[in-house]
Parts: sequence; structure tokens; C-alpha cells
Amino acid sequence: MYFHPLQVPLRDGRSAVIREATREDSAALFELERAIVRARQGIVKHEDELPPDAATFAAQRERAGLMKTDGSAFPLLVEGEGGVLLGEASVLRIGYRMLRHVGVLGIGVHPSAQGLGVGRLLMRHLLQWVRSHRDGDGGRVLRVELYVRADNSRAIALYRSMGFTHEGSRRAFLRADDGTLVDDLLMGLLLAEADAS
Ligand SMILES: CC(C)(COP(=O)(O)OP(=O)(O)OC[C@H]1O[C@@H](n2cnc3c(N)ncnc32)[C@H](O)[C@@H]1OP(=O)(O)O)[C@@H](O)C(=O)NCCC(=O)NCCS
Repeated sequence: MYFHPLQVPLRDGRSAVIREATREDSAALFELERAIVRARQGIVKHEDELPPDAATFAAQRERAGLMKTDGSAFPLLVEGEGGVLLGEASVLRIGYRMLRHVGVLGIGVHPSAQGLGVGRLLMRHLLQWVRSHRDGDGGRVLRVELYVRADNSRAIALYRSMGFTHEGSRRAFLRADDGTLVDDLLMGLLLAEADAS
């Protein structure tokens, strides 16, 4: 299970590197998450609900299984010039054997790097990586799913363009900053179907 680092072009003419995230990236990933949460776009938590420090954040990633190297987790990140972290995305497979073909996707791009193609690059390479992975017994990820706020039109447009379809809604799932209740969408992609098309 290894993702070969790749040099990729951004829309502003600069280049970046897309590579697997490791334990050593935890502190930078924590800073990225804080910047995204502070920007209050597309997120479901407040800054004071984040882990108190990078070590706790790293422990949470570890507990969630994101650092496993047995084919359960596919963590990617994009680094800009000088090693600055521009975005990250991951697919984490569900542990139960009956659900092991299901991966849950998460993605976040730094507010200062949004709109440059980082999100699309992450989605494309992450899905390729997941699609090409085979377990020792031939098992693979067949379904990728994600949750997205119904008012996050930018993310929804990106997911639809990658083949995800709207499968259901959690009505009035979250309360936005202005007090209104917002639905949350479940979107899914069947990799076997996408492979066949
Ligand atoms: C949603 C997000 C991941 C998209 O990443 P990004 O790097 O900003 O997006 P990209 O530049 O790769 O653009 C991808 C697509 O998003 C959409 N998009 C990007 N910028 C947009 C804008 N300003 N307005 C509307 N749609 C936009 C377009 O469909 C675009 O397609 P294109 O490549 O054909 O232009 C990123 O904006 C983000 O992290 N936002 C905050 C956190 C979040 O919403 N996470 C997802 C939670 S489910």
C-alpha cells in the first residue's frame, strides 16, 4: 500500500506535490484543519470543538485508523512550495468484514488555496489509488461514500463531477451560523460501476 508522490500543476501556474500523509504530517494537518474550520465554509464544527493540541489531534487520527498501512486507510495530501500544506483527503474503510468494501471519504483544502484545482486533484488521485488497491485476498473498495452540507454547492459540484450521486438526506441535520437548519446529503460512488463505464 503505497502512493508514489507526484508533481502536479495548480491553476495559478505554481506546482505542488501530492503524496501519502504520514504520522510526521500530524501537526501540519492540525493547522490545516484549524484554518478550514476558522473559515466557516462547508464545515460542521466550531474552532473550540477541535482537539486542544496537535498531539491530541494525532492521537485521534491514530484511533480512527487513518494511519493504518494494511489497506484500511488512504490518506493523501497536497504540499505547495516550501512544503506548505494546501489540502488533504482520505478514504477510510469500515472495519467490519461485511462493510470492508465501503470507504468513507473526507476532504479539506486550505482557504487560501481553494479554487486552484487542489480539491479536484485530491479527488482524482485518491479515487485512483483506492480503485487500484487489492487486499491480499483480492478484496477491494467497491463503494465510496461521503456526507456534505446541502448548502456546500462548491463541494457538491466537485463530487458530482467525479461521479458521486445523491443517495439521501439527513434533514435539518445541522444548525448554521445564522441559526437556520441545514440538511446534510449522503453521496455515494460505486467503483465497480465506474470501472465498467
Ligand atoms: C470543497 C473543496 C474541497 C473544493 O476544493 P477546491 O480546491 O477549492 O476546488 P477545486 O479548485 O479543485 O475545484 C473543483 C470544483 O469545485 C467547484 N468550485 C471550485 N471553486 C468554486 C467556486 N468559487 N464556486 C463554485 N464552485 C467552485 C467547481 O465545480 C470546480 O470544478 P472545476 O475544476 O471544473 O472548476 C474546498 O473548497 C474546501 O475544502 N472547502 C472547505 C471545506 C469543505 O467544504 N470540505 C468538504 C466537506 S464535505
